[in-house]
Amino acid sequence: MKLHKLLVLMAATVMSLSLSAHTLRSPQGVLQLNVELNQKGTPVYELYRGEQTVLRPSSLGIEIKGGKHFTEGFEIDTVTYSTFDEEWTPVWGEQATIRNHYNEMAVQLFQPATKRTMVLRFRLYDDGLGFRYEFPYQSKLSYFIITDEKTQFALTGDHTACWVPGDSYTQEYVINKTRLSEIRGKIASMSFNPTYNYLFSPTGVMTALQLITDEGLYLNIHEAALVDYACMHLDVDDKNWVLTSYLTSNARGEKCHMQAPCHTPWRSIIVADNACDVLASNLTLNLNEPCAYDDTSWIRPIKYVGVWWEMIVGKSAWSYTRELNNIHLDNVDYTKLKPHGRHGATTAHVKEYIDFAAAHNIDAVLVEGWNVGWEDWFGKEKEYVFDFQTPYPDFDIDEVNRYAKSKGVQMIMHHETSASIRNYERHIHKAYELMNRYGYPAVKSGYVGNIRPVGEHHYGQWMVNHYLWCVTEAAKYKIMVNAHEAVRPTGLCRTYPNLIGNESARGMEYEAFGGTPADHTTLLPFTRLMGGPMDFTPGIFEMDISKANPNNKNRVHSTLARQLALYVTMSSPLQMAADLIENYERFPDAFRFIEQVALDWQQSIYLEAEPGDYVTVARKEKGGERWFVGCSVDERGHTAEFPLSFLDKGVKYKATIYADAPDAHFLENPQAYTITSRTVTSRTKFSQLCAPGGGFAVIIEKL
Ligand code: NOJ
Ligand code: CA
Repeated sequence: MKLHKLLVLMAATVMSLSLSAHTLRSPQGVLQLNVELNQKGTPVYELYRGEQTVLRPSSLGIEIKGGKHFTEGFEIDTVTYSTFDEEWTPVWGEQATIRNHYNEMAVQLFQPATKRTMVLRFRLYDDGLGFRYEFPYQSKLSYFIITDEKTQFALTGDHTACWVPGDSYTQEYVINKTRLSEIRGKIASMSFNPTYNYLFSPTGVMTALQLITDEGLYLNIHEAALVDYACMHLDVDDKNWVLTSYLTSNARGEKCHMQAPCHTPWRSIIVADNACDVLASNLTLNLNEPCAYDDTSWIRPIKYVGVWWEMIVGKSAWSYTRELNNIHLDNVDYTKLKPHGRHGATTAHVKEYIDFAAAHNIDAVLVEGWNVGWEDWFGKEKEYVFDFQTPYPDFDIDEVNRYAKSKGVQMIMHHETSASIRNYERHIHKAYELMNRYGYPAVKSGYVGNIRPVGEHHYGQWMVNHYLWCVTEAAKYKIMVNAHEAVRPTGLCRTYPNLIGNESARGMEYEAFGGTPADHTTLLPFTRLMGGPMDFTPGIFEMDISKANPNNKNRVHSTLARQLALYVTMSSPLQMAADLIENYERFPDAFRFIEQVALDWQQSIYLEAEPGDYVTVARKEKGGERWFVGCSVDERGHTAEFPLSFLDKGVKYKATIYADAPDAHFLENPQAYTITSRTVTSRTKFSQLCAPGGGFAVIIEKL
């Protein structure tokens, strides 16, 4: 990755012991931060945007096992200021270049009772704040165990919040939009995976947490660069409007095992006076380290189809036979077993997907259920499950890959780990070698079920380390990773850009498991997507799932036009066209949009957005002149209105608009769409009606 440093100005000023507050202003003075010690020697920070208070005095601290906590009894040793300004080039993403401009204040604290030192490092941007705890190398602190982190965000009132519960098992929740005061009551009425309740019962929320104040400020709290640490959730004190961090525990109920020198991830808060600026913020990426790889030429965006939705809806199966239960893989000779006839990943069927991909400008085909073990994996907390190498008898891996190559199509590997982590790590190198042998560029991995080793959690430090290890090991094989059920991303794709996707939220599949409210895709950009792209798997054209499986009466809560919009509103270098081939063949003119939509962007402009209502964005493709506009709206519908002033002046463009028909409705008439063309310029005022649960997608190209 290229890193252009425009200007790195290190103006370090060291101040000695002071009792008064230490102040930091953002580069343009938009935000101001004050840090001081209270009477107990606890570090406290406050944040202002102009005259408006963003955070009231909020205390900082870390509790440790068997020692004095890093929560009080501190003195300020030194305060160091510096400034940083650079422009860097992501390997892929929403923009070709990103400016990273902040003022920094490092507050070195000393705890006389323990003779220990802790540094609080604050980076203040015009659009937000990042800070972390650092533990320098020192004689009185080496190994320590964090029992919890007590970082406060003391809010100014009963803000509106877009949230999911702070669980340690799953993130795949409907996103709530309520007042802070309603969160605890709502969580109390929900049920959670009982396996974890002995250690943990959610009382708070996950990040990224989107907040909206009654005064019209948009605050987004998250963490950046979650490495070798446990995932942070936020406990909600709904009387005083204070959010306090709590970390995901390990099997013993501890949070993080540390060895100085070390530091926590960044805790971050984006502050804006409109919702578009939250979505446009690069704070999370900027707080991450630069790219760790010298050569990134092998990392490429991918558009794919796959043998997947048909299993999700229950039309076909991952498994091969009904004859097995309680398998020990070593003893099974699948060729002697009777197939049940519903196996999806057969050579012949996969070839149909390859043919479709080749005919429609789709880069790759994902195949799930290709490898033995699917008869007995779910819900048993088994240690030995998949080997990630042995294909089912009716999936000829040599032939499939030969055929794909002959058609210029790539294959995407699938590794369902069933959350048996040692089993995956035991096989991972052989599995990656197999991918290299056949030329698979990417793997979709998954972590369904309770984590084995028993007692570990999906978002604990041990699992956080596992997910990243898989990504960095994959890089050695030039393999890209898309991990489902892994901890929600925190901008690590800047440092490790072969992490091309995560699920880590409620994806399209839930439409087949019971449904998802129509506003979901207007909330995801403000929550899950703040940390990185999502393998949401859009592009479902047949909303009535019973057409594929009469026993599945669920339906997709969207119009068809909105399904197209999602390729633009939910930016990702990895995009699936998730529906069955037969449904795309019914709507070839609409599928043209999916064929054409870009995956990597020169520039992105958020045109209008309101969490839970609508999101409209224009993006210019990288390496080309086309613009794509997408708009996704909630169940009430919306009329989008914006000028096309981002187009080149004095140039005529053709806009092809894929929109909801006037009588479209996500429940009653979802497949009613229109495709129209018109000439537009930078002076055009664009206006488009969106149906309830609808949206639109536009391709704008020079005439
Ligand atoms: C859950 C994933 O989200 C889904 O995409 C996958 O098909 C199943 N696990 C099976 O691995
Ligand atoms: Ca999932």
